[in-house]
Amino acid sequence: VEELTFERVTAEAGRVVFGDLREPSTLSDVSLQTRRPVVVQDEALEALHPYLVKDLHRGLGAAGPVISLPGSEGTKSLSTVSRLVDFFLSRTVGPDDYVVAVGGGTITDVAGFAASVTHRGLLHVRIPSTLLGQLDASIGWKTGVNHHGLKNVVGTYSVPHLTAVDVRLLSTLPAREVRSGLAEAIKVALVGSAPLFGFLEENAVGLLRRDMELLDHLAKVSVGLKLRLLDAWERHRGVAGPMSLGHTVGHAIELLSGRGLRHGEAVAVGIATAARLAAARRIIDDWTVGRITGLLTLCGLPTALPSPAPAEIEAIQARIPGFASGDRVVHRLVVPSEPGSVTALEDVTWPEIRSALSS
Ligand SMILES: NC(=O)c1ccc[n+]([C@@H]2O[C@H](COP(=O)([O-])OP(=O)(O)OC[C@H]3O[C@@H](n4cnc5c(N)ncnc54)[C@H](O)[C@@H]3O)[C@@H](O)[C@H]2O)c1
Ligand SMILES: [Zn+2]
Repeated sequence: VEELTFERVTAEAGRVVFGDLREPSTLSDVSLQTRRPVVVQDEALEALHPYLVKDLHRGLGAAGPVISLPGSEGTKSLSTVSRLVDFFLSRTVGPDDYVVAVGGGTITDVAGFAASVTHRGLLHVRIPSTLLGQLDASIGWKTGVNHHGLKNVVGTYSVPHLTAVDVRLLSTLPAREVRSGLAEAIKVALVGSAPLFGFLEENAVGLLRRDMELLDHLAKVSVGLKLRLLDAWERHRGVAGPMSLGHTVGHAIELLSGRGLRHGEAVAVGIATAARLAAARRIIDDWTVGRITGLLTLCGLPTALPSPAPAEIEAIQARIPGFASGDRVVHRLVVPSEPGSVTALEDVTWPEIRSALSS
């Protein structure tokens, strides 16, 4: 079991461990020993990994109530939070108990949020079961739900007490979800590591084939980088940090009805859009843009929003904070300058984004 730690500016700390969840030592944690877990899991895992909850209970040293929810974007809502709080209270979950969220980013986001507001904050543990969750959604301190068609507008900063990454869970993950997860790996590489970018270029095919050793290596490197980047950025909370690369445009297109984009696919379009916008300003050369869109394509990810309808364009503009009020408003946008390094532009205009989106 390898292990990484991270701390917030406040005294809260979280741990990320990598290992086999069937081994009780992977989850052993002194401060959880006297508490009772309540498991919130993706219902798809019931059939795909029938012994998972049993293994978790054994590893954590205690059993407790279990609730299953659909692992989908629609589950990330305030009504699910209300349902979870009702479930916790009906099962007499008390302030000393803790929530174990098992699933992709949708489950860990909503369960982490429900934990953080129940009894003014229960401890929570995350067991990510998607690549995107293992690389990104389960790492860090953000929880949240969507509201009125807007992504993650209700949420909290709540450090998971423990995150346990077992890449074996990915053996059942649909290919499209593997591709979606790779988009976040590409983001992390562009923000902080040229060698990771090279690793992805070299091993994209093996990763898509779900080679467990490659996935394990990717998870460790990428999580280590994300934690370092988060630490460095924590002091500037509230300002779009480097890790928002691809997400300003990504979030604006992810929930567009009719497109049915996965989170990582929307982020891929957002990354490519940011790269083209940077090229138009001569911050990045065309060859590097080609390398970025080439890697996205190699991973089976989209790099543009083909022929957007006028109503879609309007919806996207309305969903990017600032642009909602008109063309002349400028917006902060993180763009890549070369693999391993990004620049934050403070004066991006809507027409620039509009033209980079579909070209
Ligand atoms: N909190 C954060 O910092 C953060 C960061 C990045 C993304 N996110 C959020 O994460 C969400 C996306 O997460 P996601 O891509 O994991 O999606 P998801 O939770 O919707 O899961 C994707 C699909 O995979 C299925 N699934 C999960 N585990 C499986 C397994 N082991 N085998 C087979 N199928 C499995 C699910 O049932 C679902 O159909 C978005 O809502 C995004 O906003 C949050
Ligand atoms: Zn993301």
